[in-house]
Amino acid sequence: MWRVKPLDAIIATAEKKSLHRSLGPVQLTLLGIGGVIGTGIFVLTAEAAQKAGPGMIAAFVIAGIVCAVAALCYAEMAAMVPVSGSAYTYSYAVMGEMIAWMVGWALILEYAVAAGAVSVGWSGYVVGLIENAFHLDIPNALVRGPLDGGLVNLPAMAIALVVTVLLVIGTKESATVNAILVAIKIVALSLFIFLALPVMKIEHFTPFAPLGFKGISAAAASIFFAYVGFDAVSTAAEETRDPQRNMPIGLIGSLGICTIFYMLVASGVIGSVGAQPVLDAHGAGLRPGSAELTAACQTAGATHVVCSKEALAWTLRQIGWPQIGNLLGLAAGLALPSVILMMMFGQTRIFFVMSRDGLLPAVLSKVHPKFHTPHVITIITGVAVALFAAFFPVGVLADISNSGTLFAFAMVAIAVLMLRKTDPDRRRPFKTPAVAVVAPIAAAGCIYLFFSLSAETQILFFSWAAIGLVVYFLYGYRHSHLGRGVVEVAELSGDAPPVPVPPMPNAPTPGEKQA
Ligand code: ALA
Repeated sequence: MWRVKPLDAIIATAEKKSLHRSLGPVQLTLLGIGGVIGTGIFVLTAEAAQKAGPGMIAAFVIAGIVCAVAALCYAEMAAMVPVSGSAYTYSYAVMGEMIAWMVGWALILEYAVAAGAVSVGWSGYVVGLIENAFHLDIPNALVRGPLDGGLVNLPAMAIALVVTVLLVIGTKESATVNAILVAIKIVALSLFIFLALPVMKIEHFTPFAPLGFKGISAAAASIFFAYVGFDAVSTAAEETRDPQRNMPIGLIGSLGICTIFYMLVASGVIGSVGAQPVLDAHGAGLRPGSAELTAACQTAGATHVVCSKEALAWTLRQIGWPQIGNLLGLAAGLALPSVILMMMFGQTRIFFVMSRDGLLPAVLSKVHPKFHTPHVITIITGVAVALFAAFFPVGVLADISNSGTLFAFAMVAIAVLMLRKTDPDRRRPFKTPAVAVVAPIAAAGCIYLFFSLSAETQILFFSWAAIGLVVYFLYGYRHSHLGRGVVEVAELSGDAPPVPVPPMPNAPTPGEKQA
């Protein structure tokens, strides 16, 4: 279970069996922005305000810093090992199969659950927009999950399935759709900043941290979701032209652009309408998503951004731009699917690589003869995402997703550091600056944010990890191509069986388990 997949074998395999390389730096940065800006800023801003008050701006900064240092580590790995699979693949090469499996397993939380969260966020905006624009009252039973006072969230389910179809049709088409939606998002957020910043009042920033630093940490752990997605760029490495140059551009470029927007938008919300949390009788903050907060919001809702499910549209309506508020709602409704798309894309590519490595059944890496996409796993992922979206609230899904992401990011940071020691001479097209400082900060930052998540989320993560270990020992451990001495893999047609090849010079001998 400690066997590592030699880096040279990973790269050689990818070169022979790669998906079609069609993505350039601009497309890649757009994919990154498409994956990053979404429910986090459009919807969860209200949740962050409830946890931290105006201090949420500090939460955005903290989460942004952790992501920035993690992105620098990701970029080194992504440029050096330009293959699909991101954190999973990197861990396989450095920390061995079992840890790689655990990372891949955690990435299911990151990508699939995040896609579910964004689907729910999308549903909230679209339902709110329809209700406002057409003065309709859609029954909650059909547009909210059971924990949210409904039965099933049908719009969230539907959008997840539509995105699944786009992904089955193919990357190129999907990337084009993505680019248009990214443009809509950027215009909408720019308009928000342009209208909100001029009416900022400095007194709205006090009290700055009504719930103390603990509140800011909790908000940072949740709002971290707003930055998740940049790493999905690295999962497109096998479909990228000149990945050595373009991966770092895609990762760091998209994260930098998003961070600037978030700072400005958060300041706009706080400064224009205020962001004080709704407190209970003892002065404690009510938990987002709780019945108490819902009840309190029924009386206070008209005056608190924390009660809104469409924080940015609501803010614009409050400051006298109701029509633009509706337009922003429309933009979110049109654009959030690009995030779902990116998340599901990342998920399918990770499953694809895990299956190609023999840790998951080979049928999952079957590629469609016409569309050249891994259609089997895309459809399975899409159905799972639709089910998450149908039955769970956005905040719960976002926090669960964060737990998996933080684990994966921490592992990548550690892997970068280890690889600098064990393989110092390998060509690194992009080197993490001051790695001895940056990588430990990234790992420590992820651990800090992980333990700032709610206890329920942490328990769920560890339970998921335990299930993952059982699955690994029941299936992956025995079927691993590496473990069976098969370094080469099935053709992309997905039909050919794995072909054993002689071990490479530095590769473990067949079946050898490396410590
Ligand atoms: N960062 C993405 C979002 O906020 C996942 O929706």
